[in-house]
Amino acid sequence: MKTMLKNDTFLRACRREPVDYTPVWIMRQAGRYMKEYRAIRKKVDFLTMCKTPELVTEATLLPVEILGVDAAILFSDILIPVEAMGLEVRFTEKRGPVFSNPVRSESGLEGLSILNLPESVERMPFIKESIRLILEALDNRLPLIGFSGAPFTLATYMIEGETSKNFTWIKRIMYDNPAFLHKLLDKITTTIINYLEMQINAGVHAVQLFDTWAGSLGPVDYQEFALPYTERVIKGIKETGCPIILFANGVSSILEFMGNSGADVAGLDWRIDIGDARKRVGNMVALQGNLDPCVLYARPPVIKKYAKNILDRYGSGPGHIFNLGHGILPDTPVEHAKALIEIVHEESGKR
Ligand code: CP3
Repeated sequence: MKTMLKNDTFLRACRREPVDYTPVWIMRQAGRYMKEYRAIRKKVDFLTMCKTPELVTEATLLPVEILGVDAAILFSDILIPVEAMGLEVRFTEKRGPVFSNPVRSESGLEGLSILNLPESVERMPFIKESIRLILEALDNRLPLIGFSGAPFTLATYMIEGETSKNFTWIKRIMYDNPAFLHKLLDKITTTIINYLEMQINAGVHAVQLFDTWAGSLGPVDYQEFALPYTERVIKGIKETGCPIILFANGVSSILEFMGNSGADVAGLDWRIDIGDARKRVGNMVALQGNLDPCVLYARPPVIKKYAKNILDRYGSGPGHIFNLGHGILPDTPVEHAKALIEIVHEESGKR
């Protein structure tokens, strides 16, 4: 049994229970836009940082202390379990994550490990230890969110070998050799279920599935190559009772599927009106989002106008978690992120 949290507003909103104000956190809230983060990163590379529980804890706590968010999120990356499945990944300054051997052949596919529960812990011991240290440091102040990439998004990285614009490799394989992609998605799905179960066992209070690239699929392909695997992950961890947030970038054409997926919360990008989204799926899931990350380049009065508009468009009643529609950008002024948190708290608390 988990002990009571001092601030459980975020968890209440996930369950669509009444709250005193709209909870808010920011995707990628611990990142390069903070000088304290850059100071840690000066000493170690990104992967080392992700694998050092003391540094993970320090990074995870930064936005809690500096911004006053309503939830902490484990500092890690969606590609950590992919590395544990046997692919070598490097994080580069210019190109972001790069895999030296993208999975494009039968032998590459055969060589990948499926991680079951004990292997998930053994190959990523720093995850369990990081969660333990973070929970200790949080001291029941706030919930901690764990996460994983969703199967299709992870398959995209594994096949493309880096962040892709056109998804030429994965789509070529998807249309030409769908059985290959299904086999890869199957391996990833089993691994992710065990990876998330490990995080939940370690004590995270909610989990988010990042299906960042699912929006690159048309609805027919989404239903064949993304949705069934995401649903399998959700089913696989559902009985833990841990709230599940499903985020996708480009949600407009897949929103009803997300609402029906078994997730508790649908994470929206900024290209959709949250009021319309609520009409479409608001009786099935809570909604998270959906401020354009670029609004945070503007002065606080402008941020206020846009944040207020999202709160107004969502309307009254529970089930909204305020967030950006995608990760915060590295050149965002910290003061603006801080202002956003204050604005959301003030404006929503007034209602
Ligand atoms: O939200 C959080 O604060 C938790 C930490 C977190 C990171 N990445 C830290 C990170 C989370 C949840 C992610 C998820 C992630 N990682 C996604 C899904 C969400 C999204 O943004 O769409 C994806 C696609 C990745 C893969 C990834 N990791 C890319 C493409 C990059 C390079 C681009 C970039 O922003 O640098 C990373 C690196 C990364 N992940 C950084 C951080 C803080 C920057 C690393 C650095 O310090 O150099």
